[in-house]
Amino acid sequence: MGVRFLLDSEIIEPGEVDPTTTVLQFLRRQLRRTGTKEGCAEGDCGACTVAIGDLDGETIRYRAVNACIAFLPMLDGRELVTVESLAGDDLHPAQQAMVDCHGSQCGFCTPGFVMSLFVHQECGAATDDQTLCDALAGNLCRCTGYGPILAAARRMKELPPRPRRGRDRRALAALKAIRRTSDLTLRHFSGGLETRYHAPRTLDSLLALKAQNPQAILVAGGTDVGLWATKQRRTLSLLIGLHEVKDLSRVEQREDGLVIGAAATYADAHAALRRWHPDLGEIIRRIGSTQIRNSGTIGGNIANGSPIGDTMPVLIAAGAQLLLRSVRGARRMQLDEFYVAPLKQDRSSDEIVEAVFLPRLQREVYFRAYKVSKRFDQDISALLGAFALTLIDGRVASARIAFGGMAATPRRAYKCEAALTGLAWTRESIEKGMAALDADFTPISDMRASATYRRQVAGNLLVKAFLEHQGAAARVLEAAGG
Ligand SMILES: Cc1cc2nc3c(=O)[nH]c(=O)nc-3n(C[C@H](O)[C@H](O)[C@H](O)COP(=O)(O)OP(=O)(O)OC[C@H]3O[C@@H](n4cnc5c(N)ncnc54)[C@H](O)[C@@H]3O)c2cc1C
Ligand code: FES
Ligand code: FES
Repeated sequence: MGVRFLLDSEIIEPGEVDPTTTVLQFLRRQLRRTGTKEGCAEGDCGACTVAIGDLDGETIRYRAVNACIAFLPMLDGRELVTVESLAGDDLHPAQQAMVDCHGSQCGFCTPGFVMSLFVHQECGAATDDQTLCDALAGNLCRCTGYGPILAAARRMKELPPRPRRGRDRRALAALKAIRRTSDLTLRHFSGGLETRYHAPRTLDSLLALKAQNPQAILVAGGTDVGLWATKQRRTLSLLIGLHEVKDLSRVEQREDGLVIGAAATYADAHAALRRWHPDLGEIIRRIGSTQIRNSGTIGGNIANGSPIGDTMPVLIAAGAQLLLRSVRGARRMQLDEFYVAPLKQDRSSDEIVEAVFLPRLQREVYFRAYKVSKRFDQDISALLGAFALTLIDGRVASARIAFGGMAATPRRAYKCEAALTGLAWTRESIEKGMAALDADFTPISDMRASATYRRQVAGNLLVKAFLEHQGAAARVLEAAGG
């Protein structure tokens, strides 16, 4: 049985299509649903935003995703909602609010905004300005300006809502009927080339597949891999999707720390990571956009291993451990040992990243993490610094400091750590730490930042961490009447 998904009360079976076809291509070319637009085809502009619904007990839970970088097999067993699905006797409140507030000019971005607003309302999310901005940060508009669109987002809550789509009994029954219990295997032949896509449902099945096909590309959220198809036009002849392996999606709070399964999305893991430390929560909030965080995973970020990936420096400073698994068994390592050289990881071709473990933050550890990018939302880091300093009796007992954007891999600042360890926690010591930090890295200049800027800002982040600690200490003293 091939891919099956629900679209407006109808079960769609695409049949023999290339599994690397994106949801957007299928919508526009096969189904001729052209309301969903293609702007960038790389997850950046939000013009292609659709909602994907998953069974969640007796309701359907919707999430906004970028259709342009989601492969069609990812829809299997789910509901797809497009802007056409909102048609009814009246406009949907998201559409009516856009009309009322003049939120659309050329209209190219409008279906994407409407879908983001639809999901926001459907989920019953908070309606304060910050939450609304977060919900819309992945949708770009080039002509209307964001003022009227934000006004529309506020206006939507004043309009009578539509009944919750996620409670529709017929849709629920249809989704239950197409729920798959065995692995999905797709084969497609074209021009003498075979493309295969496997979506195993269990960890054992996944590991067996990876052992038999060590050259297979794993795809979790596809927010990196999707672009290999749409932008780099690479031929992806064998893909193994991780999205149906429940064991990989766990987010587990344990006595000794937090376990995040490699295929847990940023959206799924966000609350637990924010509880671990607010700065980590803030870094996650600034990864891509709502659409990207609804698909992308920490496991994908780690395995992709980009030198400007956001989670790795934070996790390295936090002392995170990586769990790798293959049919031969499991092993565990410190995350910083995983990146052995540029583009080279300590991972065999049959191994997968299973999870990352974040040890509980000890009371005496002062932790800070800062992302520096040109734009606040939807931007890749120029650099990212994370600091975990164990402060005992006014001295630095130990330090773990890691940076992204400063070297060809995310890396610890060993010289800076050594320079600070044992010193009094003072501004003079920070100066010594900054000098050592300068010797730790030889950053490059690129379109995001020059080497000089990166060096300067890396040192400044250390000062910032220090000053914020002093500020916090001063506030405590003040509160205590000191
Ligand atoms: C518009 C946009 C904005 C972005 N913004 C940011 C940002 O702000 N910060 C940032 O850091 N990144 C950003 N990214 C990059 C991307 O979203 C992240 O790297 C994300 O974490 C990748 O996760 P994924 O699940 O989508 O990975 P995928 O694309 O599915 O996979 C990425 C790589 O990891 C491998 N892989 C995935 N899972 C496993 C596993 N369990 N075991 C072994 N290998 C595995 C894949 O084979 C592939 O090589 C952005 C991307 C886009 C398109
Ligand atoms: S077309 Fe721009 S995000 Fe998909
Ligand atoms: S209305 Fe033209 S891009 Fe938004």
